[in-house]
Amino acid sequence: MSAPRTIGIGILGFGTVGQGVWKHLTDKKADLESRLGVKIDLRKVALRDPKKSRAIKISKSKITKNAYEVIDDPNVHVVCELIGGTTKAKEFTLRALNQGKVVVSANKALLCGHGPEIFKAVRKHGGQFLFEASVAGGIPIIKAIREGLAANRFELIVGILNGTCNHILTRMGEDGLSFADALKEAQELGYAEADPTLDVDGIDAWHKASILAWLAHGKWAPANRTLVEGIRNIGPADIDFARRFGFALKHLAVIQRNFEKNWMTVGVYPALVPNRDILARVSGVNNGITLRGDVVGATTLAGRGAGGDATASAVIGDIVDAIAALTGNSKQGLSGDDLVAREKQGLEVRMGDLDEIISPFYLRLSLLDKAGVSEGVYKIFSKHKVSIARVIQYEHPNKGRGTVTLSTYPVSERKMDAVLKELRRLKTVLEEPFLLRIFNPES
Ligand code: NDP
Ligand code: HSE
Repeated sequence: MSAPRTIGIGILGFGTVGQGVWKHLTDKKADLESRLGVKIDLRKVALRDPKKSRAIKISKSKITKNAYEVIDDPNVHVVCELIGGTTKAKEFTLRALNQGKVVVSANKALLCGHGPEIFKAVRKHGGQFLFEASVAGGIPIIKAIREGLAANRFELIVGILNGTCNHILTRMGEDGLSFADALKEAQELGYAEADPTLDVDGIDAWHKASILAWLAHGKWAPANRTLVEGIRNIGPADIDFARRFGFALKHLAVIQRNFEKNWMTVGVYPALVPNRDILARVSGVNNGITLRGDVVGATTLAGRGAGGDATASAVIGDIVDAIAALTGNSKQGLSGDDLVAREKQGLEVRMGDLDEIISPFYLRLSLLDKAGVSEGVYKIFSKHKVSIARVIQYEHPNKGRGTVTLSTYPVSERKMDAVLKELRRLKTVLEEPFLLRIFNPES
């Protein structure tokens, strides 16, 4: 079959990302056409509400409310799924893949939830599913793992993967904004998901971490074996502790792999990151990912993790790869063999357990303001052989309670869990203890 001379692009969804892709693909069209040696035809966009006012204006003839009109058009070779969610997005994606088309997606929820089914359709019908934009916005992390860093096995991948959380933590920590105001700002800037609880409760970062874990280790991280925590409960005392002791508060995704014992752990949670670590300096909407590879050592990639422009950059990168593959200029995407190899690799890996995840911890406790209360707390730490490194006590005169924040030396999640269980039983502990992990770049 001869390669098509004109490649048709169809776009599903015309929100933050869809409009960014249209705008930049239109701007760069002539340049890309001359580099790729083909004509690019931006054929049609599917959206829900044609009456909605949008920053990017396009001719009515290019718009449809019926996504099938885009997917089933024989002159559309590349379908960009930019609507989000997992129901319609899955249906549309499989419909395009079942026709052997290329799907370019920014949808991490879809890939994390239905990866095996999607790749089965890729293998069966010979299409492609490209997903650079699904993790870390404009940072080409997928390509880096698959191509540039292919020589490596990664014992640690740690990153800030949610732009909304990082924007909120930066604005709360540096500018004193409230959580609610900082979230509102992130929504207005187009960083947040349509349902922002996905961002602030850590689900979006888990989707992304699971994709990276699968790419690096061939195994999807199931929700029930992944520690998923968000940033809602972070308060002024936590920010104060971080500032006093040289940490930045970050929402981290941590993928650890032990090659000897063949386990992998995946966790996403707010953590204290020492200021000397490069990730502590990744602020605002930016994402940053450090990969510790056995050949390259530690490599960090950083850049804008959300927003229409940065994400469009990743989507257009995938479109360029797709065009190169469709016109026979290179073999791109995850081929059938690659997918089979990854599946095989994943079968050999188990999820690590709570004794195998070790880090220092930070704890905030609200305690009854009475003599001997702290002693009762410290006894529990000592019983479980958890050593305390630093403590701050805040008094709240006349309120009958005080706040204590403390950090520990490295211990296992299992031990810390045992400490927490006992602390919860103390009548003198007045609120649910608030726990953060402390990222230790040297561990
Ligand atoms: P938006 O909510 O801004 O846009 C979604 C678009 O999809 C809207 O234009 C909507 O139409 C359209 N849409 C929804 N359902 C349908 C349907 N059934 N048929 C046709 N069109 C439909 O989302 P974003 O652009 O922010 O996000 C899109 C995807 O990209 C998501 O998967 C998200 O997770 C991902 N992503 C987002 C990033 C960001 O920074 N925003 C960054 C990286 C990935 P209408 O406008 O008419 O309502
Ligand atoms: N809502 C996501 C974020 C978009 O804030 O990181 C980018 O995936």
